[in-house]
Amino acid sequence: MQTHILEPNKKNIKLCAKALKRGEIAAFPTETVYGLGASVYNENALKKIFTAKGRPSDNPLIVHICEKSELKKLTSEIPLKAVKLMDKFMPGALTIIFKKSDAVSKTVTGGLDTVAVRMPKNDIALSLIRECGFPLAAPSANKSGLPSATTAKHVFDDLNGRIEYILDGGECEIGLESTVIDVTTDPPRLLRNGGVTIEEIEKEIGVIEIFKTGANIKALSPGMKYKHYSPKAEVYFSAFYEKMSDTIVEVYDRLKNLGRNPVILCLESRINLYGVRETINIGKNYKEYAHNLFSALRYADSKFYDAIIAEGVDEGGIGATIINRLVKSSGGQVI
Ligand code: TXA
Ligand code: MG
Repeated sequence: MQTHILEPNKKNIKLCAKALKRGEIAAFPTETVYGLGASVYNENALKKIFTAKGRPSDNPLIVHICEKSELKKLTSEIPLKAVKLMDKFMPGALTIIFKKSDAVSKTVTGGLDTVAVRMPKNDIALSLIRECGFPLAAPSANKSGLPSATTAKHVFDDLNGRIEYILDGGECEIGLESTVIDVTTDPPRLLRNGGVTIEEIEKEIGVIEIFKTGANIKALSPGMKYKHYSPKAEVYFSAFYEKMSDTIVEVYDRLKNLGRNPVILCLESRINLYGVRETINIGKNYKEYAHNLFSALRYADSKFYDAIIAEGVDEGGIGATIINRLVKSSGGQVI
C-alpha cells in the first residue's frame, strides 16, 4: 500500500472521510499528537489500527468526537464533575473516562466496561470527524513503543506502507498527549498526565486522586504497563535541582569515555553550561520543551546519537507531564 501525505484542504478531508467510511484507517493531526483513526462502530477498521501500530489488543483506544451530543450514544452516565470538565476542556487536551454504552465494542475499550472520550481542539480533526458522521477511535499515530508523532513526517516514518492517508496539519501545537481522567469514581482519578495540567483540572472540580507510583495505574489504564515513548537511543533523565548540569556533564563524559555517542537535551538558556559537548536545544521554556520533546527524541535517533541525557524540570504545571514522559522513555533511568 502506498502512503500519501495530504494537504488538509476540503477535498482531501472528504477523501479521508470516504476512506474511513469504507472501513479504512487514516492519520490526522490534533493539538496534542497525530492520531490514527477508524470508525468507532466498524470492528474491521478498528482491528486494522492494532495491526498497523503493532498495538496489544488490551490497550484501549480514545474515542474522538466533534460535538458533545455524540456522547449520548457512547455513555448513559455523565457525572456532574464531568459536565464541568467538558464545559472547560471540550474541545481540549483532556480525555474523560465514562461507563461505556452497548454501542461501544470491547475492541475499542480493550475489554473494559469504560470508554475514553475526547474532543480535539484542532479544526482539521473536527472537520474530518464531522465529515465522517461518526466518532473516530484513535490512538497516537506512531508504531507501538516509539515516541508519539507530532508531525506528518513522523507518522510517515513509522507507518509508511501500512496506511493510505496522512492529513498534514504541520507541527502539533502541544506536542504531548492528552491528560486522561476517570470520572467513574469520586474523587475522579488521574490516569495519565498530559496537555491539561492537574492545577487546571482541580480549579474546576476540586481535589482529584493522583497515583504517584506505577503499580495501581497499570491495572486502571492498561496502556501504562507497556514500554512507551522510547527512541532507539538509551535515555537518561536528570532529577531537577540547582546543580543538575554538573551531574549531566559527569554522565556525558563517562559515556563518551566508554566510546558512546551521547547528546544533552537542554533549555536554550543553559546550553553554555555544557561547553563543547553535543546538545539539542529543546526551547526557551517548559511549553517549548513539551512541544519539542518527542521530535527531539526522534531527531537524536536520526543523527545516530546512542544516548540522550535530558535535563530535569520542575514538577508544577506542564512539568509533571514532561517528567512522566521522560521517566517512561528512560525506563526509569533517572540520574
Ligand atoms: O492526545 C491524545 O490522547 C492522543 C490523540 C491522538 O488524541 N491519543 C493518544 O492515544 O495518546 P493512545 O492510544 O496513545 O493513548 C491512550 C491512553 C492509553 O494509555 C490507554 O490505556 C488509555 O488512554 N485509555 C483509553 N481508554 C481507556 C479506558 N477505558 N480506561 C482507562 N484508560 C484508557
Ligand atoms: Mg500512544
